[in-house]
Amino acid sequence: MTQARPLSPAVARPAHVTDAVTYDFDMFADEAYVKNPHDRILDLHKNAPPVFWTPRNGGHWMLLSHKANFDASRDVETFSSEVIPQAQVQAMLAQRPPGSPHFPQPWPINIDPPLHTMHRAPLQKAFSPKAIMALKDSIRELAGELIDAMKPAGTAEFVSAVAEPLPVQVFLKMFGLPVERQQEYRQVVKEHMESISVSDPRAVMMRMLKITAIMRDTLLDRKENPKDDIISMLWQTEIDGKPMGMDEMENFCVVLFAAGLDTVVNGISLGARHLADHPELQRELRADPTLISAATEEMLRRYTFTVPPRRVNKDTEFHGVTMKAGDKVMLFLPGADLDSREYANPEQYQLKRETVHIAFGAGPHRCLGSHLARVELNVVYEEMLARLPEFRLASDKEVRYHGGHVVGPDELWLSWN
Ligand code: HEM
Repeated sequence: MTQARPLSPAVARPAHVTDAVTYDFDMFADEAYVKNPHDRILDLHKNAPPVFWTPRNGGHWMLLSHKANFDASRDVETFSSEVIPQAQVQAMLAQRPPGSPHFPQPWPINIDPPLHTMHRAPLQKAFSPKAIMALKDSIRELAGELIDAMKPAGTAEFVSAVAEPLPVQVFLKMFGLPVERQQEYRQVVKEHMESISVSDPRAVMMRMLKITAIMRDTLLDRKENPKDDIISMLWQTEIDGKPMGMDEMENFCVVLFAAGLDTVVNGISLGARHLADHPELQRELRADPTLISAATEEMLRRYTFTVPPRRVNKDTEFHGVTMKAGDKVMLFLPGADLDSREYANPEQYQLKRETVHIAFGAGPHRCLGSHLARVELNVVYEEMLARLPEFRLASDKEVRYHGGHVVGPDELWLSWN
């Protein structure tokens, strides 16, 4: 079980930030947030401004309203994905002694157009709906095996039994990394996600170095011995007419590795927690499984869980607040999807709500893995409802969550008769 993280020290408020738009909230360690993240977000909507500045984690803006998140996601000139500007990164790299290892950078997620457009293109095919549909049967088979394995005990810690191994194994196979090393990969990703902080970019860089180090052998092997996997496919692509080099491979792999091994784990767990708490929903979905894909979409809205960072590129007036170049911003997408200005009664889970959510982001960086994530989420709920009797939260175990850039349960105990 993860230890409770202490609150980060509060920094002084910059002169351009007014008291009226300041609200003290630590997105990693706020006590109420790590106890129940989405309940705390509903509380933020009542008590915090729609765009607010918090002194925690080095001081940054939080975009709480749906409109602010949508507008900032699409305005890449004002809200840069280069949390550290590329020019600064290149200057830092240039100072390293000759022969130093390449420092990986998470591309395309941390670069702006036009560089972003060029680097996103090679990934589109690997994650297209057609490529993902071809994996659906094997995803179902694995989900069935994992659920059947935990069933006889009548109770299980669901994150480690199903929510983690399912997307992790699917991704490793698809990507071309050895599934036998899943524990080791997952541990490195967990440490990386916990360490990400806009206030300490060097620590993040060191973690990324660790990620590329554990993939290096496989990357080099696939260059010489291509197989039917994403690593081999990437080696065969060109960027801007130039053949792929090891540095670019590492940049792609570090972002795919983190996205592939962490996001869906949290999505599956948040949805399973809701189902366990709502037997009437389980009954409705068992009676009509065609409703499950709508149920998944509403889970994604009600329990949105990723918080992408941005850097303000130029002084701006945005949704009534003054932001200065260099300010850090969090697209607080979990807040956006619980905004009553966008969704009537956002706290209610409504299966037949016909609304579009922002769980996969908006604008040019919108999630590349959304088709894969949707298939995994749908299949796991279908197989749980088909294979398990009515399940519930284990009465003697508390659900524990982590905050940060990807929010979700660390442990989720379920029981059934
Ligand atoms: C339910 C699960 C997932 C959620 C909620 C999610 C959410 C997101 C969000 C919000 C973004 C936009 C980030 C930004 O604007 O800075 C994003 C980008 C991205 N996601 Fe996902 N993601 C999920 C699963 C995946 C999976 C399984 C993969 C691949 C294995 C993936 C790969 C990516 C990549 C490569 C990007 C960067 C796209 C770009 O910068 O152009 N995601 N994701």
